[in-house]
Amino acid sequence: MSPASVAPDIASDFVLDLRSDTVTRPTRAMREAMANAEVGDDVLDGDPTTRALEAMVAERLGKERALFFPSGSMANQAAIWVHTRPGTELLCDAEAHVYHWEIAAVAGLCGVQSRLVRPSTGPVMRAADLRATLRLPSIHAPEPSLVCLENTHNGAGGAITPVGELRALRDVAREAGLPVHLDGARLWNASVASGTSLAAFADCADTVMVSFSKGLGAPVGACLAGPSDVIGQAHRARKRFGGGMRQSGVLAAAALHGLTHHLDRLADDHEAARALAAAVDGAGGARVVPPDTNIVMIDLPTPCGEQVVSAAAARGLRLSMWHASRVRAVTHLDAPMERVVQAGRVLAEVLEETCR
Ligand SMILES: Cc1ncc(COP(=O)(O)O)c(C=O)c1O
Repeated sequence: MSPASVAPDIASDFVLDLRSDTVTRPTRAMREAMANAEVGDDVLDGDPTTRALEAMVAERLGKERALFFPSGSMANQAAIWVHTRPGTELLCDAEAHVYHWEIAAVAGLCGVQSRLVRPSTGPVMRAADLRATLRLPSIHAPEPSLVCLENTHNGAGGAITPVGELRALRDVAREAGLPVHLDGARLWNASVASGTSLAAFADCADTVMVSFSKGLGAPVGACLAGPSDVIGQAHRARKRFGGGMRQSGVLAAAALHGLTHHLDRLADDHEAARALAAAVDGAGGARVVPPDTNIVMIDLPTPCGEQVVSAAAARGLRLSMWHASRVRAVTHLDAPMERVVQAGRVLAEVLEETCR
C-alpha cells in the first residue's frame, strides 16, 4: 500500500514521536515553575530548590539521603564507583542499561568488569539466575563487588520485576556479601503500574537511581538515594565526574513539578501502550511483547527494522530500532491516547506493507 492510500481518517500532517519517553518538552506550567525557582550556588552554600527535591525523593524512597545529578547515567556510574573497586566485577542482567548504553563507563571510569546474568525464565534475571552466576571464590577469578538491578527494565520492554522477586534478588546478593544498586530510571512506572510503593521497591537495594527526564517529563536530571555515608561518597564521585552544578534549582524545580503533577498520570501512558500493542500485534507477522508499562517492543518476522522505522517516519511516526528484528515505541506525556491510537493504525499498515 502506498502512502497515497492512507485511510482518510489519518491526518496527512500526522506527527508523533514515540522513540522514547525522553522526547517530551517541559509544559508551560513546568517552565513557570523553573522560572520562579528559588536558587543559590549548589557547589558553595547549597541551592534551596535542589535541597527540597532531594528531601522529597529521599522521603518517597524511604532512604536517608538523595543527591541530584545531571543524568541517570552519571548517577548510576557514581553509585558503581562508590560500591566497587578496580579489578572487581559487578553482576547485572544481560540487557542492563549500565552494561549496554553507558559506553563501558563501568570499565572506563570504575575499572570494573561486568558479568552478565542471563534470564532463564522470563525477560529479566531472577534470584535463581543470579545465584547460578555467582562464582565460587577462586584465586583465578575476579571478586564480585556489586549487583545491579533495573526496574522497570528498558531492554525487556519496560518489564516490572515484582517486589517479591526483587527481595529474593537482594537476599541472594546479601548472602554473597554484595551491595545492590537499583537503576530505577522508570521506577515511577513500576510503582504506578503495580501499586507497590516506591519505598518497598527501594528497600530491595542499597542505592537507587530515579530519573526525572523520562515519564515525569522534566528536561533533565536524576537522583541517587541511599544511606547518608554512601551518598556522601557519591557526592565526591559526582564532583570527580564533573557534575557539580550551581543554580541547579532551575532544573530541580522541573523535577519537583514532574513529581507533583505527572506521577499518577503514568497510568495513562501504560494504557496507551496497551492500546498500541493491541493495534499492531500480528500485523505483517510482527509479535508484540505485552507491555507491563510504557515501552512497546515489536518483534519483526524478518530483520526489516530499518525499513519499518523509515517507512513509519515517512508517515510521521517516529520509532527507534532496538536491533534489526525489533523496533521500540514508548508512550509519554506528549503522546495522548487519540494520537497513539492513530499511531497504532499507521504502524499496523507499515508492518503489513514492509514485513510481508
Ligand atoms: C533504564 C535506564 N537507565 C538509565 C538511563 C540513563 O538516563 P540518562 O539518559 O538520564 O543518562 C536510561 C535512559 O534512557 C534508562 O532507560
